[in-house]
Amino acid sequence: MKAKDIFDLTGEVALVTGASSGLGRRFAQVLAANGAKVALVARRRDRLADLQSAIEAAGGKAAVIEADVTDRAAMMRAFDETEKAFGTVSILVNNAGIAHADRALDLTEEKWRSVLSTNLDSVFLWAQEAARRMLAAKRQGAIVNIASVLGFGVAKGVAAYAVAKAGVVQLTRALALEWTFRGVRVNAIAPGWFVTEINADYLASDEGKAKLRDIPCGRFGQDGDLDGPLLLLVSKAGGYISGATVVVDGGQIVALRG
Ligand SMILES: NC(=O)c1ccc[n+]([C@@H]2O[C@H](COP(=O)([O-])OP(=O)(O)OC[C@H]3O[C@@H](n4cnc5c(N)ncnc54)[C@H](OP(=O)(O)O)[C@@H]3O)[C@@H](O)[C@H]2O)c1
Repeated sequence: MKAKDIFDLTGEVALVTGASSGLGRRFAQVLAANGAKVALVARRRDRLADLQSAIEAAGGKAAVIEADVTDRAAMMRAFDETEKAFGTVSILVNNAGIAHADRALDLTEEKWRSVLSTNLDSVFLWAQEAARRMLAAKRQGAIVNIASVLGFGVAKGVAAYAVAKAGVVQLTRALALEWTFRGVRVNAIAPGWFVTEINADYLASDEGKAKLRDIPCGRFGQDGDLDGPLLLLVSKAGGYISGATVVVDGGQIVALRG
């Protein structure tokens, strides 16, 4: 088979959470460029509308859905609106996420709960709803959860974030075990450092720039570095991959693996 055929997403309906900036914006564009119709989900509607225009100008199809991923009613509305516009979601990219920089002694209960709620609880609940609908519609599907290298190793000031991302890695395995035989594959991508709004200030600081020393590729991740891994996991090319977490970090965690 030719590469363009095994990665082709024509006929697929994708939903990307956190599509209003950074990695999610790019994920939505890549999915649309390869044939999927894409529901763009986040809280900032104006950003999503800009992205919808960019996707449509490039010949793709996209719908804007303003929703907070921690809001169950908004989640149900997002799936309903996507179904109405394009049909049952067959690709879910669980990407929305927030970071924090508090050391554990200063981390408030409110912040802890907010990071876990956005970065882990929502990943489960959106995956569960997507899978329920795929199974009800008898559609094969692919779910990709966005984890992090901080799901494997830790740094100072990321306790809640690292716990949530480690949870995403285990959740991915658990869901894959239960759903793959019914036609829903579940995988994760664990990015290393990519400069986006979540970390731009930090990576521009002296401490942030020093992180480059830990990356064998010698640079932070950039637009395009996650295109191939995403397409692999959601397309026919990855039809026998489930429960995996693909680390895309320029070699950063090799040292942690020994
Ligand atoms: N950048 C990195 O180095 C890196 C590394 C590893 C993993 N990641 C993960 O990659 C994912 C994307 O991060 P990013 O770097 O692209 O950061 P970003 O530019 O800050 O984007 C985060 C996205 O999540 C959305 N979001 C946050 N809370 C939300 C909520 N409650 N409801 C709906 N949407 C919400 C934001 O949209 P609105 O504010 O418009 O709602 C935004 O679109 C995150 O899960 C992050 O943990 C990033």
